[in-house]
Amino acid sequence: MTTARPLTEPAVLGRRFPPRFLWGTATAAYQIEGAWNEDGKGESIWDVFCRIPGVIEDGQSGEVACDHYHRVDEDLDLLASLGARAYRFSVAWPRVLPEGTGRANEQGLAFYDRLVDGLLERGIRPVVTLYHWDLPQALQERGGWLSEDVPGWFAEYAHLIASRIGDRVHDWVTLNEPQVTAFAGYQSGVHPPGVKDVATAVKVAHHLLLAHRAGAEALRAASPDAAVGIALNLSPAHPATDSPEDVAAARLADGVSNRWFLDPLFGRGYPQDVVERYGVIAPPPLDAYDGALDFLGINYYMRHVVKASAEAQLGYDVLPPSGALTEMGWEVYPDGLREILERAHRDYRPGAIYVTESGAAYPDEPDGEDTARVEYLHDHFSAAADAVEGGVPLQGYFVWSLLDNFEWHFGFTKRFGLAYVDYESQSRTLKASGRFYRSVTTAR
Ligand code: FCB
Repeated sequence: MTTARPLTEPAVLGRRFPPRFLWGTATAAYQIEGAWNEDGKGESIWDVFCRIPGVIEDGQSGEVACDHYHRVDEDLDLLASLGARAYRFSVAWPRVLPEGTGRANEQGLAFYDRLVDGLLERGIRPVVTLYHWDLPQALQERGGWLSEDVPGWFAEYAHLIASRIGDRVHDWVTLNEPQVTAFAGYQSGVHPPGVKDVATAVKVAHHLLLAHRAGAEALRAASPDAAVGIALNLSPAHPATDSPEDVAAARLADGVSNRWFLDPLFGRGYPQDVVERYGVIAPPPLDAYDGALDFLGINYYMRHVVKASAEAQLGYDVLPPSGALTEMGWEVYPDGLREILERAHRDYRPGAIYVTESGAAYPDEPDGEDTARVEYLHDHFSAAADAVEGGVPLQGYFVWSLLDNFEWHFGFTKRFGLAYVDYESQSRTLKASGRFYRSVTTAR
């Protein structure tokens, strides 16, 4: 824990954000909804993965999670009480298309109708993520992200959702963190389907980019005014020393985790330095491709400090973080947010940028006095304000997360919420960070 700093007059309140800046919070379906098998929902790859002994830190699953499916009104009231102007949520693909394609599930679609209407009634703008990691298991059994059919499946799903709620939803995020889908799912194997093969991960990343584009086209076909973006997890890569080897290693690490997605999405094809490093496992070129983005979403959690290493697979290691850490073991490094925002603007010129996720896990107590998170948010909001003052077209900021929730393979051991969730009683209690957030959203 960091030591408390007086934040009664948070400097961030005096900072300039654009007049219609979208202060929001973010969640994801599998992490909060629960109701894993209700009202005709199909299984997702996470439903299946969580049953494998040992893969989830506390042996839990998202079967109930925050029970948001049954508590949506209460949760929307909580969101409204925070003064949020926008809410980024994801649709559970298997809830609306239990087999992944084909037959739509009316009850599942009706849930998202209610959610969108509930937001609009409270004056909150919906920002809809189509894919936040819960692929229908039925599609996994047909090859999942490794199948060449996946762009078509994703386009069908995107078209269905936009046809249903596109009359009320303007802003869409196709994919959340394709880098994580590909590399946690297929290289480290800590996410489903638990494969550990870098060549497969690179192929999956390629299919994700193709699916993004197909999905963007389908969204616009069903809802011509749609604003379409993607949420990338981006991390500045800093050399551990200023030796030429470490500087080159950091450049390559930036290529592997950031430019690998940014370059093709902005019409530049895959970065040549990484293609050369991948050699035979490099995918086919994407020279005639671009992501047709109306906005770029950035999820920011950390920087990478990089050291050259002859033994490492790609020739570098990301060093273990030092200094102040969150409960995830991630370094608290607010200036990295300013840096990545300025860099995205300078190098890629997206029409608009949103911070689609930013937040921190701390070992919260039920009393909700999460001073460390208040400081974390304060310092990251300030970093965003620095970027705005530097000319970055930042139009919104979504705090991860509205509620404590199921943190993937960490289960319920990590709490990111502005509200504390008691999973026994399912009660929600606003934390000090929630009150701080409200003071920011209502100050302008
Ligand atoms: C991001 C995910 C989000 C949550 C946060 C902590 O990578 O998009 O679902 O797990 O990390």
